[in-house]
Amino acid sequence: MMKAVKKILIALAVVFIAIQFIPSGIPENIPEDKNSIANSSLAAGPVLDQINKSCFDCHSNQVKFPWYSRLAPSSWLLAIHISEGKSHLNFSEWEAYSNREKIGLLEAIKDEVGSGKMPLKSYVLIHRDAKLNSEEISALLKWADEASARILE
Ligand code: HEC
Repeated sequence: MMKAVKKILIALAVVFIAIQFIPSGIPENIPEDKNSIANSSLAAGPVLDQINKSCFDCHSNQVKFPWYSRLAPSSWLLAIHISEGKSHLNFSEWEAYSNREKIGLLEAIKDEVGSGKMPLKSYVLIHRDAKLNSEEISALLKWADEASARILE
């Protein structure tokens, strides 16, 4: 009995190590980020820090998650989330969006953050510091409203 368990554990360990060699598809960091929201006057200070901490891993060209996120198979899931997340909203390309797109995205941010859908739950489970408390959610919603108003000015 013990022997069988040991064999299964060894087999699992071998599979775990072997899958680490399959490329995850997580994109490389792109340091050149001139259109980033970080360079826009629309977001600054604590709100920008919050977006950076809670959203950038999936919604920007800056990927900075810790080593354990890079372990397969969770890295594959993250790679899918990044490519999907960026296709909807890329904070690194913020300044390239038209005013109409920005306002639409700010609305979507309010929906997603306000309903607790973003940041994704599976991500927050591992990245505890990305989790938003109720004050942080309120601050983001308020920011999105003010930012929309400023774009319309
Ligand atoms: C783990 C990756 C991940 C993180 C972190 C994350 N998102 Fe997302 N986001 C996604 C994915 C994947 C989608 C597209 C699928 C969906 O809507 O579930 C998405 C969709 C969105 C959309 C919808 C855009 C549209 O076109 O309707 C908005 C807005 C959004 N995210 C905002 C945010 C904000 C703001 C944060 C940070 C507070 C955040 N996300 C954090 C992965 C992520």
